[in-house]
Amino acid sequence: MCGIIGYIGKKQALPVLIKGLRRLEYRGYDSAGVAILETDQNKTVIKRIRAVGRIDNLADKIKDEKFVGHVGIAHTRWATHGGVTEENAHPHFGCDDRLAIVHNGIIENYREIKEMLGNSHTYKTETDTEILAHLIESYYQGDLRLAIEKALSFVRGTYALVAIHSDHPDMVVAARLGSPLVVGVNSVDDNDEYFVASDASPILAYTKKVIFLDDNEVLEISNGKMNTFNLKDEIVQKNIEEIEWDESEAQKQGFPHFMLKEIFDQPRVFVDAIRGRYDLKNGISFLGGLNMTEEEMHSINKIILIACGTASYAGMVGKYAFERLAEISTTVEVSSEFRYSDPIVDNKTLVFVLSQSGETADTLAALREAKRKGAFVRGIVNVIGSSIARETDGGTYIHAGPELAVASTKAYTNTVAVLLLYALQFGRLKRTSLVTGERMLKAMLEIPEKMSKILAQSDKIKAIALKYKDCKNMMFIGRGINYPVALEGALKLKEISYIHADAFPGGELKHGHIALLSEDFPIFAIMTKDQLYDKMRSNVEEIKARKAPIILIATEGDESAKNLSEDIIFVPETLELLEPLLNSVALQLFAYHTAVLLGRDVDRPRNLAKSVTVE
Ligand code: AGP
Ligand code: GLU
Repeated sequence: MCGIIGYIGKKQALPVLIKGLRRLEYRGYDSAGVAILETDQNKTVIKRIRAVGRIDNLADKIKDEKFVGHVGIAHTRWATHGGVTEENAHPHFGCDDRLAIVHNGIIENYREIKEMLGNSHTYKTETDTEILAHLIESYYQGDLRLAIEKALSFVRGTYALVAIHSDHPDMVVAARLGSPLVVGVNSVDDNDEYFVASDASPILAYTKKVIFLDDNEVLEISNGKMNTFNLKDEIVQKNIEEIEWDESEAQKQGFPHFMLKEIFDQPRVFVDAIRGRYDLKNGISFLGGLNMTEEEMHSINKIILIACGTASYAGMVGKYAFERLAEISTTVEVSSEFRYSDPIVDNKTLVFVLSQSGETADTLAALREAKRKGAFVRGIVNVIGSSIARETDGGTYIHAGPELAVASTKAYTNTVAVLLLYALQFGRLKRTSLVTGERMLKAMLEIPEKMSKILAQSDKIKAIALKYKDCKNMMFIGRGINYPVALEGALKLKEISYIHADAFPGGELKHGHIALLSEDFPIFAIMTKDQLYDKMRSNVEEIKARKAPIILIATEGDESAKNLSEDIIFVPETLELLEPLLNSVALQLFAYHTAVLLGRDVDRPRNLAKSVTVE
C-alpha cells in the first residue's frame, strides 16, 4: 500500500522519482505526486505536481514542465482519509509551500492535533497527512529535523514520512513508525547519493547497499552525509547492509504480466528455498534460523501459524505437515483475529509468522502480541530486511525473489516448502524415521521438474479457462491437505478475475452448499491420488449427478477421472504432503488465464494492495 521514494544526490531528481514510482506501482495506489526543490537565482522553491490515477497521468502532466532540481520526494497514495482527488494526493504542504511531506500510514489523532493547532492554520485537503504537515510547520524554527521530532512525539498512529523544506536546498528528513522505509546509499565519483523508499525495488537499479530505518528513528541526509536519530535527538548507529536481490528479477523478462513470470519462476525459486537446508543421507532438514536448542524444540507442545490471505493457506498446509511428521498440535490463525483474541500462548508455544512482504500490519501486530505472551516467535518471510524479519527472534527467508504481482504465487509455494522443511526438522527429532525423511526430501527434489510439467500445460489450462470465463460463480473443493489448496484456488480466482468463488471441504457439500449447484455453477475439484481419493471421488459423483459442470485436477494416469469430466488438468504424482506444491500451480494458471481472457488488470487488481500496511 502506498509507495514513497525520495532522492538526494547529483542526478536530476525527477527521472529517478518517476522511475521509482513505477517500480512501486505494484504496491497498489490511486493517485500520485512529486515535489522537487528547484533553485533559481539563489532562491529555492518547492515545485509540486500531482495527479489522480496511474503514474502515466502524472508523467503526462509533468512532461511540459521544466524540473532541474536534485532533491525531491514522490508518493503513490492509497487513500485512507479523504477521497481520491488531486487535492488529497501527496506531497502535502503546510500553510505555505515551503515544507512538503509524503506519508504512508495513518495519523490516528489528527483531529486532536487539528484542534490543538487552532484557527491559525488553513487546510486544503481532507487528509490526516496534511494535519501532520501543519504540525511540523508549527514547530519549525529553522531546524527541519527538530521540528519533525517534536511533531512526531505527539503523533499516534503509523507513519513512514519523508520531508523537504525550501530553506534547506540540500536536505531530506525521513522518519518511521510502523510503515517501512529503506535507505539506499550509493557512491558516484566520490559523491554520495541517497534514495529513501518504501522498499528496495526502486533502489536496486542504483545500489544494493541499504540501511533499514527502525521504528521511532529519524534520518537526516544533508550535504552528502546521513545521520540517524531517535526521538530524543540522540544519534543512533546504523549498519549498511547488502541486498541480494537482482534488479533483473524485478522485471517482466518478456512475460506479459508479472504474475505469469512469477508463476513460471516457481521451479527455479523452489530450489532456492530448500538449497543448503537438508541432508539427504540422514533424511534431515536444518533451518539455522530456528535459533532453538534441541531441548527447547522438545519442550514445544503447540505450534501456531499466523498469517493473512494466501500466506495463511500456506500455513494450513504446514499444519498437516507438523501434525503428521512431528505430532505437535498445530493451529493456523488469521492475524487480524489473533491480535484481538486472548490467545493461549506460553513459553512452550512456537509461533511462526508467515508473510511475503514482511510488512502486513495485522501480522506484525499479532507477532508482537505473541512475543509479549512469551512464545518463541519466528518469521517465514520473503522480503529481506522487512519489519517482520527484523522483529522476530529468528526465522527463515523463503528466497522467492521479488514478487510484484498483487496475487501471490511463488511466495505461496516457497512458504509451503519452508514449512515442510521445518516440519521435517521437528519430525526427525521426535518420531519421523530416516526412511520417511529421506523419501520426503527425494520427493521435494523432484518438485521443480514436476512443476515444469504443469507449466507446460499452460495452453491447455487456458482453453479450460476460455470455456468457463463467463460463469458468475465457481466453487472449489478439496479434502485433507488439498482443502487449503481449494481455498487458495478460490482466492486466486476471485482476486484477479472478480468471479465470485468459494471453497469447501468436499465432505461439507451435503451440509448446505450443494443447494447452489446447477448447470451454470461449475465446480473445480482437486481429486489427486491422496488418502482421501475415494471419498473425494464420491463427492464428485454427487456433483455430476446434479449436472453441475466439473473441472478436475487429477493424478497422471488416473484414466477413470475421464468418466467424471472432460476438463481435467493432470498433474504428476508426488507424496501427499507435497501435493499442494503442484496442485496450486495448476490453479494459479487457471486464475491467471481467466483474468486475462476477461481483460482484467491482472497484476494490479482493483481495490487491492500488495503490501497491506494499514490495519
Ligand atoms: C494474495 O494473493 C493476496 N493478495 C493476499 O491474500 C496476501 O497473501 C496477504 O495480504 C498476505 O500478505 P503477506 O504475505 O505479504 O503478509
Ligand atoms: N493516510 C494518508 C492519506 O490518506 C496516507 C495514505 C497512504 O499511506 O497512502 O492520504
